[in-house]
Amino acid sequence: MAHEELPVPVFTVLDPVYGHDYDLEEVQLRFQTLNSKFIEIYGGRPEIFARAPGRVNLIGEHIDYEGYSVLPMAIRQDAVVAIRKRPDAEKVLRIANVKDKYSMCTYAADPCQEVDLKNHKWGHYFICGYKGFYEYAKANKISVGEPVGLDVLIDGTVPTGSGLSSSAALVCSSTIAIMAVFGVNEGIKKKEIAQLTCECERHIGTQSGGMDQAISIMAKPGFAELIDFNPIRASDVQLPAGGTFVIAHSLAESQKAVTAATNYNNRVVECRLAAIVLGIKLGMKTKEAIYKEFLNEVPYTKEEIERITEEDLSTIFANSPTSLDVLRAAKHFKLLQRACHVYSEAKRVFAFRDAVLSDLSDEGKLEKLGNLMNDSHHSCSVLYECSCPELEELVKTCKENGALGARLTGAGWGGCVVALVRESSVPQFILNLKESFYQPRIDRGIIDEGDLGLYVFASKPASGAAILTI
Ligand code: GLA
Repeated sequence: MAHEELPVPVFTVLDPVYGHDYDLEEVQLRFQTLNSKFIEIYGGRPEIFARAPGRVNLIGEHIDYEGYSVLPMAIRQDAVVAIRKRPDAEKVLRIANVKDKYSMCTYAADPCQEVDLKNHKWGHYFICGYKGFYEYAKANKISVGEPVGLDVLIDGTVPTGSGLSSSAALVCSSTIAIMAVFGVNEGIKKKEIAQLTCECERHIGTQSGGMDQAISIMAKPGFAELIDFNPIRASDVQLPAGGTFVIAHSLAESQKAVTAATNYNNRVVECRLAAIVLGIKLGMKTKEAIYKEFLNEVPYTKEEIERITEEDLSTIFANSPTSLDVLRAAKHFKLLQRACHVYSEAKRVFAFRDAVLSDLSDEGKLEKLGNLMNDSHHSCSVLYECSCPELEELVKTCKENGALGARLTGAGWGGCVVALVRESSVPQFILNLKESFYQPRIDRGIIDEGDLGLYVFASKPASGAAILTI
């Protein structure tokens, strides 16, 4: 059976989740610590643990919300949620974190509560999963009874603001933890959870496309996945031998939810507008080759677009408060540039997959993949304008040090670069990055030398979400 048709697996031991690429003793210690900290805070053991990984997107950036396929892989860094129903009648959700810098968040056990977007808190991501779970149960007539209090403790290892989907890891692990603690996980397919968690995360105010949640839920160890949307599907992609993906943080944090109105959601709205304008001009017969004729290179003002749509943009987006925020914040709209990125990036995803499947030698494949990654970065940087000076410097440094290809990964405007590097030169490559990119930042006190391993590391395709009853 296709793996998106299966439920999220439930394990009683850690090995199948963390496999042989991990130091199992370290993982065991992590879970023991989580367990004892849970007991310390709440006075009893968690009923269930759930984990979901972050991801690195290899190619296909900012096209998932247009419905185009993308090609990410899960990484070993993840979010683990320990949870139990409260033993008393108190209808409160307590969400604690093993890291002291995230103080405990408390919410009413009310699935209809609004997420307070003006007052961003880390615990809101759990509430996204909580609300989404109840919405799903209601829509599918699953009886889950009256809301009850929950005790929750979270341990996340995906660096935040890194473009590696710490938010999706948290939303996905929270959602499946809630499903498991209410005993309804067995009957729900991964593809439904992928769709549901994508909708859950939109409660945080980003109009996210679904890639991050889909790979976090559906990943398989050893494979990248080609993710298709409408309907959601994952196809395994076996990467060629001899190449390794190195992830390196630009040290510029990208707070997707906080900057949504001017960055992430702005691009979503620009793409919608480009599609609307093209739909009108082409009578819905969008042919990719001719879109350049119908969109102007000079950025559009709101009024110019309204002359084409013959409708106010605020009416078109009336049902989307976060899009209205975008309209209020935007000075102009670059429809041609954004459309050029989307159409070309969508093609590169399939070119990447085709290169992997081709009969080229492994070396030939790696070169092809590297070139596609470079083209993707150029398009993100120049046409989509979602890069930043730190990412540009880091991509350049990667290429100067022998990467076959390097590009920003995730939403951009900060966060990480993913570089394709010949396996044999990975240690030297990382050393060179340390010297040329990170050392000056260590000297300036931006990061501690001892933390370097958190900011630059090689990554293999890791496993997807799982529920643990250990
Ligand atoms: C974020 C979103 C994804 C995707 C990427 C850009 O990670 O959550 O849905 O749009 O940005 O490719």
